[in-house]
Amino acid sequence: MTANQGPVSPFPETPDSEASLSHVPVLAAEIVEALAPAPGKVFVDGTLGGAGHTRLLLERGATVYGIDQDPYALERARQAGLPGLHVLQGNYRDMAGLLASAGVTQVDGILLDIGVSSFQLDDAGRGFSYHTEAPLDMRMSQSGESAADVVNDLDETELAALIYEYGEERHSRRIARFIVQARDKAPIETTVQLAEIIKRAYPGFSKGIHPARRTFQALRIYVNDELGALRDGLTAAQSLLAPGGRLAVISFHSLEDRIVKRFLLGSDVLTPLTKRPIVAAESEQADNPRARSAKLRVAERAAVPAPEAS
Ligand SMILES: C[S@@+](CC[C@H](N)C(=O)[O-])C[C@H]1O[C@@H](n2cnc3c(N)ncnc32)[C@H](O)[C@@H]1O
Repeated sequence: MTANQGPVSPFPETPDSEASLSHVPVLAAEIVEALAPAPGKVFVDGTLGGAGHTRLLLERGATVYGIDQDPYALERARQAGLPGLHVLQGNYRDMAGLLASAGVTQVDGILLDIGVSSFQLDDAGRGFSYHTEAPLDMRMSQSGESAADVVNDLDETELAALIYEYGEERHSRRIARFIVQARDKAPIETTVQLAEIIKRAYPGFSKGIHPARRTFQALRIYVNDELGALRDGLTAAQSLLAPGGRLAVISFHSLEDRIVKRFLLGSDVLTPLTKRPIVAAESEQADNPRARSAKLRVAERAAVPAPEAS
């Protein structure tokens, strides 16, 4: 397959059963405890994905406004027809406007489970994986600059900086140099093409973490402006929470967790309920590799004090 063939639909056959929506949500019990879903409560799931967490909230009688920027994730959720779920397409950084357009101005809880879903990772056509040949895309929303645009257009210094900053990759300069040398010969269009260039740039690669892992992570974060969305989303979330409402954020690497931690410490609206992030139990980590790096932080919006008796 070449990049010129255009995006491959992750829905070769449109799913219509509940089974096709199934997704193992990380820290499921911890999220239920943190958000305390119950009949009459209203939640925002800013990262609906496979609706694994949303389903836990719905099963306990809550109403959920599920946001996702990935049209395929939303289509899957719509097809499942989960009672109590309202699906909203967009970026969670715009959650206040998205909710306002649905007539909602305050909610009891907000969940963000940052990053890509297993559906997106497993779908070779989306270009997130360095193992499978696909157009170098990585856009969750299917719009804007693709990863191929970024590796072919940025200059070497900019490329090195983004690989270093978002991938925490110590060989960033060398990788950027190899990318620029390769694209001078022919544009870089596919995942495996890029992964092979990175392998050649990587000194002494034999076993362990794949040399392309950090660079792919960096490109994904950059292409989807994941850290900018997180910062904006946290600000939007605190203004949308009702007094006593809770925010739960699951992050998967230190860059995200640092942003969440600092935001909560600096907020004069939210009180952190987790001094240290909650991590998955060993049994969950053994069953679900994605849970190994998950970190959950929870905060609460101060309740309005009761008026003093006169
Ligand atoms: C890790 S998955 C969520 C999985 C979900 N909690 C579940 O249990 O099925 C993240 C999802 O959030 C979406 N997403 C990531 N960043 C987003 C953003 N800034 N705005 C809206 N959706 C986003 C992705 O498209 C993906 O479907």
